[in-house]
Amino acid sequence: MKTVLSGIQPSGQLTLGNYIGAMKNFVALQHEHQCYFMVVDLHAITVQQEPAKLREQSEAVAALYLAAGIDPVKSSVFIQSHVPQHAELGWILTTLTNMGELERMTQFKDKSEGKESVGAGLFVYPALMAADILIYNADLVPVGEDQKQHLELTRDLAGRFNHRFGEFFTIPEPYIPEVGARIMSLDDGSKKMSKSNPNPGSYIALLDEPSVIRKKISRATTDSGSDVRYDPANKPEVSNLMSIYSQCSGLSLSEVERRFEGQMYGAFKKELAEAVLSVIEPLQQRYRDIRESGELTRVLSQSAERAQEAAERTLTEVRHRMGFLPR
Ligand code: TYM
Repeated sequence: MKTVLSGIQPSGQLTLGNYIGAMKNFVALQHEHQCYFMVVDLHAITVQQEPAKLREQSEAVAALYLAAGIDPVKSSVFIQSHVPQHAELGWILTTLTNMGELERMTQFKDKSEGKESVGAGLFVYPALMAADILIYNADLVPVGEDQKQHLELTRDLAGRFNHRFGEFFTIPEPYIPEVGARIMSLDDGSKKMSKSNPNPGSYIALLDEPSVIRKKISRATTDSGSDVRYDPANKPEVSNLMSIYSQCSGLSLSEVERRFEGQMYGAFKKELAEAVLSVIEPLQQRYRDIRESGELTRVLSQSAERAQEAAERTLTEVRHRMGFLPR
């Protein structure tokens, strides 16, 4: 049995991109592996968060994990800050990280571009992400394409620690889906679908009303052609909609192509909306039930307790190897 770990930031509405690129795979992996799924609030505060919103969003992301089908009896679903060992190992790994490595991170470049002042937390964030993964000696990390570079740094840091202090950390592997690892904006096929895009028409939020989702899909940008054909270089918008269709229907891209052969974009979009809603509507129903049940607090605290035991075991060994005096 392998150990699987991943996290999602509670920094805004989760999108269909988060679901297809990450969450859907969490659900698939939970049956055969020991899994840890986190709401990474310590990561979210690397940009300013309104306290009341952070609280609400943290609870919402945790409820969405369960609504998506993660079974909290099998997997640990918890809030990152409830396991303070992450922050301690994060600091330790920061001291093993070079400035140059962090400067090369494309996510940092994107998020800091054009900003007058940028928090130091945003800069060192990948070391905290490495700590999240290494503290459970995770073998597999299901993520979307945009996290691949952070994963590479994590692997380097694990290797560096092992080299200096003796073999200890598992070198983790990314688990990136073949289709859907980078779901693009509905209004621009060259940009990633993102909850931080100021145009809400550019993304489908998992908690959008069904009527809103239908409207967003019907307004999604296509191209001047008419064939539903997978060709990301020349038809990025249509190819993106096809990836979404494929991921929501379970059909392969070539099956999607065959299904819509000879049909116009309008007909394709109508069916796409239904395919998306066939995934999202039951998820929303479960989400409402979970939030109303009041069960979440208990689930989160039991999971955090389990996770904390494992994390403390790792950290005790790390402190010892690095030469920290025992208490
Ligand atoms: P975050 O919160 O930005 O995104 C959560 C997950 O969703 C994936 N994702 C996408 N996949 C496909 N298409 C998209 N448009 C799209 N947008 C987002 C992301 O790749 C990610 O897998 N640093 C991480 C959170 C994190 C983490 C970790 C992940 C913190 N510690 C440890 C794994 C392991 C982040 O900001 O993800």
